[in-house]
Amino acid sequence: MPGTRFSDIRRLESVDSTNRYLLDEARAGADDGVVAVADHQSAGRGRLGRRWEAPAGSNLLMSVLLRPDLPPDHRYLAAAVVALAATDAVDVALGLELGIKWPNDLLALDGRKVAGVLAEADVATAAGGSDGRGSAIVVGIGINVNWPGADADLPPDLVGLATSLRQQLGRRVDRTEVLEALLEALGPRVGDLSTAAGRIRQVDGLRARCTTIGTRVRVELADGRFEGTACAVTPEGHLVVETGGARRTVVAGDVVHVRPPGQGDRPIGAGADPE
Ligand code: BTN
Repeated sequence: MPGTRFSDIRRLESVDSTNRYLLDEARAGADDGVVAVADHQSAGRGRLGRRWEAPAGSNLLMSVLLRPDLPPDHRYLAAAVVALAATDAVDVALGLELGIKWPNDLLALDGRKVAGVLAEADVATAAGGSDGRGSAIVVGIGINVNWPGADADLPPDLVGLATSLRQQLGRRVDRTEVLEALLEALGPRVGDLSTAAGRIRQVDGLRARCTTIGTRVRVELADGRFEGTACAVTPEGHLVVETGGARRTVVAGDVVHVRPPGQGDRPIGAGADPE
C-alpha cells in the first residue's frame, strides 16, 4: 500500500507458511513493514504447534514483519495490534463485529472462531540487530474469509467451533478488501507501540474488545491448568485471572471460555486447525 509503512507486499501463490517465509526474510535483513500474503499454505502454522489449514484461494493468510521499539515485557502487544486491526477491518469494510478471545483469537458474536494470530520472534535478532534496528517479530493471521462456506465443509471436530466471514454475512467476501482495510488500520496501531501513551491506547482498545474479561476460563499452561474468572488485562496486555481468592497473571498460555454451569464445558474458539 503506497504511502503507508506496508509498501512491500509479497503476493505468493503457494508457500509452506507466510510466517516461515518472513522469518527467513528478517534474518536476511528485511525491513519493518514487509507483508507476505499467500493463496495457499502447505504447512500453515497455528499456535501451540497446531497446523492451520484452508483450501487454496479461500481465506486471508498473511504475515507482517515488524521491528517495533517495544520494551521486552510488552512484546505480546505486537500480536494484539494485528488482532485489533483485523477487528477494525471487518467492522469498517463489512459492518461485522468481532470480539477478541485472549490472547488473540477473533470470535464471531456466536462464540465461533473466525481468525487466529500467531506471533513468532526471530531468535537470532531477539536482542535487536547490530545495525540498531529493532528485533524482528513476525505476526501472522489467518482469517476465515470464504471457508467454511457451510458447517458441512468443516471436519466434524470443528463444527460449532469455527466459522467464516462468509457464513456470518451470508455472502462471499473479497479477500483483498479485508487485506487492505487491515493494513490501513494496522499502520497507526503499530506506530503506537513506540510510545508509552500509544501502548496505553492499544491496551485500552484490547480491553474494550476482549470478550474474555468477565468470563469463566480454564487456563492451560505449559506445566498445568487452572480455572477462574478473567478479570483484567495488565498494561503489558497480559490476562489477570481470579482463582480461589487470589489473582494470577497469565503471560503465555491458552484460554478456554468455559460455559456457565449446566451448559457443559465445551471450549470455543479452537479455530480451523484440524490436527
Ligand atoms: C492460531 O492457532 O489460532 C493461529 C493461526 C495463525 C495462522 C496464520 S495463517 C498466516 C500465518 N502463517 C502461518 O503459518 N500461520 C499464520
